[in-house]
Amino acid sequence: MSAAAIDVSGLRKVFRQTTTQQDVVAIDRLDLHIKAGELVAIVGQTGCGKSTFFDILIGLEQPTDGEIRIGGETPYGAFNRFRGRIATVFQQDRLLPWRTAVDNVCLPLEMLGLQETERRERAMKWLGRLGLERFVHAYPHELSGGMRQRVAIARAFALQAGLLLADEAFGHLDEVTARELRDTFITLARETGSTAILITHQLEEAIAVGDRIFVLGKSARLLADVSVGQWDPSEYGQLREAIQQTLQTNQAHLRLTTQPD
Ligand SMILES: Nc1ncnc2c1ncn2[C@@H]1O[C@H](COP(=O)(O)OP(=O)(O)OP(=O)(O)O)[C@@H](O)[C@H]1O
Ligand SMILES: [Mg+2]
Repeated sequence: MSAAAIDVSGLRKVFRQTTTQQDVVAIDRLDLHIKAGELVAIVGQTGCGKSTFFDILIGLEQPTDGEIRIGGETPYGAFNRFRGRIATVFQQDRLLPWRTAVDNVCLPLEMLGLQETERRERAMKWLGRLGLERFVHAYPHELSGGMRQRVAIARAFALQAGLLLADEAFGHLDEVTARELRDTFITLARETGSTAILITHQLEEAIAVGDRIFVLGKSARLLADVSVGQWDPSEYGQLREAIQQTLQTNQAHLRLTTQPD
């Protein structure tokens, strides 16, 4: 599956909260463009609309206004045509406890209607790439949290989707495991040429993702669009600080609005 370019224009999402009957503006107005094959990180304070953005990207929610186009099509308008084109990894591994690792990876491939031989071939290949050859027949309860998340990542890559989405997929793991998995994820995403978007609260992780960082303020206002490549690795400490300050003040830090010298 070829990588997908994403265009977001005038995107707005307002939720009516059932208990209070009040409107919550999750996304006020968002405009951005992601090139095919780009690896993008999204950072922003809790409740600023990051997961809502993903829900609209995968067609689970409709925008209140504006639109998202993935490869020219709106996911919520062409839900069926997007089957198998977007792969997701969430904080919870969402594995089925009654299926082994390999059968969990096979599940979305079954839903896509792939033949059994191809399903198993792909599942074994990706479980192998994630270092789980010896655990393909293990059930989720027999695996550690990090291993279960590896299965979830294998399941995402086995789809061979043009777009990979990860919502705080590594943050709950210990630091060493998180870094390892994140690096594997990035390497594989680059290797497959997919477009990838990672939501994270870890600035180090956002910088490691590589190409771009979107810093979001309240109601998903785009405070800064950072091209990581323009920063020398020796300046990453300053970059982290500038992003931190942007998040705290809800205003783009000067260093993020101009090119570093
Ligand atoms: N289905 C829903 N119904 C009502 N309000 C919602 C719904 N989904 C999200 N919201 C509200 O929209 C806002 C944005 O939520 P969202 O989950 O997108 O935040 P987030 O940036 O992912 O936060 P976190 O970093 O904590 O995961 C919040 O105020 C939330 O309460
Ligand atoms: Mg969220």
